[in-house]
Amino acid sequence: MSEAEISVLWQWAGRRTIILSWAALASRRCRKTPNIALEDAMGRKVIIDVDPGIDDAMALCLALGNSELEVVAVTAVGGNVSPGQATRNVQAIIEQLDPPRWPRLGAASEPDIRLAVDRRSLYGSDGLGGTSFAVAERQHLLPSEKVICDQVHDAPHMVTIVALGPLTNVARAFIRDPDLPALVGRIVIMGGTVSGPGNITPAAEFNMYCDPLAAQTVFRSPSTKTLVPLDVTNRIELSYDLFNQLPDESTRPGHLLRQLLPQAFRGYRQQFGLEGIHVHDTVTLMAVIHPELFSTKPMAGDVETQGELTLGATVFDRRRAPAWRHNMEVVSDMRKEAVVKAIIDGLNGS
Ligand code: BDR
Ligand code: CA
Repeated sequence: MSEAEISVLWQWAGRRTIILSWAALASRRCRKTPNIALEDAMGRKVIIDVDPGIDDAMALCLALGNSELEVVAVTAVGGNVSPGQATRNVQAIIEQLDPPRWPRLGAASEPDIRLAVDRRSLYGSDGLGGTSFAVAERQHLLPSEKVICDQVHDAPHMVTIVALGPLTNVARAFIRDPDLPALVGRIVIMGGTVSGPGNITPAAEFNMYCDPLAAQTVFRSPSTKTLVPLDVTNRIELSYDLFNQLPDESTRPGHLLRQLLPQAFRGYRQQFGLEGIHVHDTVTLMAVIHPELFSTKPMAGDVETQGELTLGATVFDRRRAPAWRHNMEVVSDMRKEAVVKAIIDGLNGS
């Protein structure tokens, strides 16, 4: 059977499974997961799940340039841009960076419920600053959720999934294969807020809001999770001085980032009146590469999937006498200057 045929079958079977099992899975009670500190479980093999997005692209530059990480797959998910555009952008970024060892690539598919939001106003019409990179004609890519399943089964307990977009792919992989959550080493998720406001609605962070059911499925799954919330990633704002610190134009990441970043600065100025940019996904990746720079605490978290005003909001049981069990580590603080330095050093390959 060809890869294209496998892909079609997988999508059909996946959709059917999701319809049948979503309700059952979503109503499962939280199960206790081990509260392993962030640094204990950081395997070297990573899957980066992205919705590029300039922020995601910068994280990919860092991940693919880091000799300590083995990026086994880069899987696309719709979010900042449509699923089709996210897939083209992943392919374009990997082609531009042309790493010595190419990761497997996964194609994004339509979420079951699509909310009418994206981030094109921030990151440009194509999510990559309007660069419209041509991508090579490649064989049909397998769906992201299948790539995730395959890679985790190939190296049980060894793979860290770094989820930098909506959790559509991870949830689908978990629903298709209920053994999978326990086989993942750790999932590090960029998303949600603990105390601060949202960034797409007053209550919700963008990645959670795009696919709240998926986020709830992953939160409730018996997997080992670390959440890097907006409260923490918002603390870093990179200024124009970044352009003086990027790798040289002659390097692949230097060349790529110089094409992408001007749009991010424009977007942040026009939309938020800021003279700098937040790099939520990059900060999250740094929590994988440099866990010693971050503090975490065990928390019990869930996601609102119904609220009229609170759809996609993350909710944590912080009562004096909590009734929910801890189900994730949540990053609560970081050594901000050291993280910024590590980002710049990492981009420059040192
Ligand atoms: C998240 O939303 C997206 O716009 C960014 O890429 C990041 O993953 C921040 O809320
Ligand atoms: Ca993202």
